[in-house]
Amino acid sequence: MRVRGAHLDDVSAICRAHLSEVPRWTRSRENGEVEEVRYEELTLFQRWLHGGPHMSPELCAVHLNHLLLAGQTALVAEDEEGRVVGEIEVIEGEVRDLGRTAHVSVLNVEAPARRKGAGRALVEEVEARARENGCAWLTTRPADDAVPFYERLGISRRLRRQVEVVIDLERPLPEPPEASEIVSPLDEYRPLSTRHMLLGCTQSPFQNWQLRRWTLAGIDEDLSAEEGYLPDLDMYYRLERAISSPPARREAGACAWVGDRSLGPLALRWLAGKASGTGYAALRTAIAEEEEAWLEGFQVTERSPFLLLGKALTT
Ligand SMILES: CC(C)(COP(=O)(O)OP(=O)(O)OC[C@H]1O[C@@H](n2cnc3c(N)ncnc32)[C@H](O)[C@@H]1OP(=O)(O)O)[C@@H](O)C(=O)NCCC(=O)NCCS
Repeated sequence: MRVRGAHLDDVSAICRAHLSEVPRWTRSRENGEVEEVRYEELTLFQRWLHGGPHMSPELCAVHLNHLLLAGQTALVAEDEEGRVVGEIEVIEGEVRDLGRTAHVSVLNVEAPARRKGAGRALVEEVEARARENGCAWLTTRPADDAVPFYERLGISRRLRRQVEVVIDLERPLPEPPEASEIVSPLDEYRPLSTRHMLLGCTQSPFQNWQLRRWTLAGIDEDLSAEEGYLPDLDMYYRLERAISSPPARREAGACAWVGDRSLGPLALRWLAGKASGTGYAALRTAIAEEEEAWLEGFQVTERSPFLLLGKALTT
């Protein structure tokens, strides 16, 4: 098994490996019904809804271009015949309480090539590079099935038990705090790196921020995102149409970075009030499992727990 840096020539092979994961291709009709269709019948956006930019060579190329130009890492594993059988993507950046962190953002080995060492080879190369770059942690959000794999590789520290929730905004909401806001894009990560990402942390805080800067024209550029700062709560926020929801569903996604952890419940109330006032019917976010008391007074309609795993690289 050979591991090497990925480049744009690899896009078709990377994409092929990811597409083999999708059991069926569907699209929603105007009336909300879901129909099964051929891949070729889907627009790029409809393909993207099945798993992001890796769902079509065009979007995968744009995404890989962003990633490589930003100096981040994408590696491929080749079998004995030089055929690409797997890919890993890693986003490195500062994370509060962890320091410089290499976060495995994407990892996929195509089904026929699994259990032959490709996944291990990719992660071990990533770990070696992260150590060379002075990273203190290697982290990931594993798919449930992949937890034993990461544990075999020593990526086994449970850093956060998170839960993704959807809040019904059409029910009465807890009173939001009075707070004035300064609307401005979060073009700089530095102020966020010193704060806790209390809401919306679905991967590493830096990965979350970075990926929203790598937008795809006509795909996720127009999510009506609003970003800004609340001096009263010392909080940065992002509110946008939830990334995979069709416009008709009026579901917002929320993220918040706060200096003082105890302000988390107020941050959530403010964002729920703002989303409701903007016309959204539901709010999707993620919080730590131990903070679920913040949801008191809200009607939660969906709840999906997930883990963030890590390995300390300082020893
Ligand atoms: C998870 C995945 C990347 C593993 O890749 P792989 O090439 O099959 O893994 P390897 O062959 O290198 O396995 C490395 C070790 O993990 C173990 N392992 C791999 N998958 C495992 C699983 N599902 N359960 C238990 N152990 C597993 C192997 O036995 C091996 O142990 P050993 O080296 O001590 O003998 C691959 O199954 C995959 O792409 N899955 C679908 C996408 C996915 O879940 N990606 C991760 C999302 S974060």
